[in-house]
Amino acid sequence: MTKQRVLSGVQPTGNLHLGNYLGAIRNWVAGQSQYDNFFCVVDLHAITVPHNPETLAADTYTIAALYLACGIDLQYSTIFVQSHISAHSELTWLLNCITPLNWLEDMIQFKEKAVKQGQNVSMGLLDYPVLMAADIVLYDADKVPVGEDQKQHIELTRDIVDRLNHQFGKGKAVLKSPAPLIQTDGARVMSLTDGTKKMSKSDPSDMSRINLLDSPDVIQTKIKKCKTDPVKGLVFGDADRPECNNLLTLYMLMSGKSKEAVAAECADMGWGQFKPMLTEATIAHLKPIQDKYHEIMADPGYLDSILKEGREKAGAIAHQTLLRVKKALGYSLPL
Ligand code: AMP
Ligand code: TRP
Repeated sequence: MTKQRVLSGVQPTGNLHLGNYLGAIRNWVAGQSQYDNFFCVVDLHAITVPHNPETLAADTYTIAALYLACGIDLQYSTIFVQSHISAHSELTWLLNCITPLNWLEDMIQFKEKAVKQGQNVSMGLLDYPVLMAADIVLYDADKVPVGEDQKQHIELTRDIVDRLNHQFGKGKAVLKSPAPLIQTDGARVMSLTDGTKKMSKSDPSDMSRINLLDSPDVIQTKIKKCKTDPVKGLVFGDADRPECNNLLTLYMLMSGKSKEAVAAECADMGWGQFKPMLTEATIAHLKPIQDKYHEIMADPGYLDSILKEGREKAGAIAHQTLLRVKKALGYSLPL
């Protein structure tokens, strides 16, 4: 039997944090041997908000290296850069012309980001989910492993697929409809400074997140200063204690212990006892990732060759899908 196809991506806007790792990449790694996987660095998405051209290329490399450092295995997975394959931009245009404007105006992420941008909202920010839909359908992806915040974008992708198939498929599916793959634990990692907000690259305070490349000292300081509450005894799932739930979940995932074990261990604990345990588990979990990252970055030729290979393999598939869509829309194809 042929394996189902998985596609996912992360934007090269700065460093990866524990939310990206626990919500997305860790799950890519865990499931990769079951699937035929494509993981891209979505650098076209990165310019939908103002970006720094001086760091874009380096950030793109960093993310690709972190994919490998986190355990993406080239035996099962292809890694590539979105902007290296022009079919992503081209299919976005075709999908744009069949996507109703009000579908995009309804997207929660657009509304949230647009508020932050004030007057400076680009067409690209509104169009972001259509580019994401193109990323997914170009590879006929069956599953898209992401954090909870991306679910709405995958539902939109399904709506666009249905619309295109219905309008242009003549009874057959031109594009495949993808399903989200979202884990329960870690799907929404919260900020260290406010347990009601998600951990995010765009939070102006670096104290709000733990980055995968933070040094042990920095991790220690961030956890020492993170927001807690005055209640003694630490429990999962109390809606009035969002920080407590978040920190216990992080401890569970960083230590690899079960929920029951953590609940029992921490039931009578205070923060003073808990925080050093979380610090130690986090540092220990990230150390092998950081070591591998530095090893990979020491040999830029290695990463270049992986991305070149990825581009060739992914590009050939994307090109075929693009031709299929153009044909369905009635284009004359160049000979
Ligand atoms: P981004 O940083 O927006 O490129 O997100 C890359 C991936 O990380 C996506 O699959 C997101 O759903 C996931 N992600 C981002 N922030 C979080 C978070 N705080 N908790 C869980 N997953 C997240
Ligand atoms: N929008 C996703 C995010 O910010 C990143 C992304 C772009 C993506 N294209 C994708 C995720 C395709 C999965 C599949 O998290």
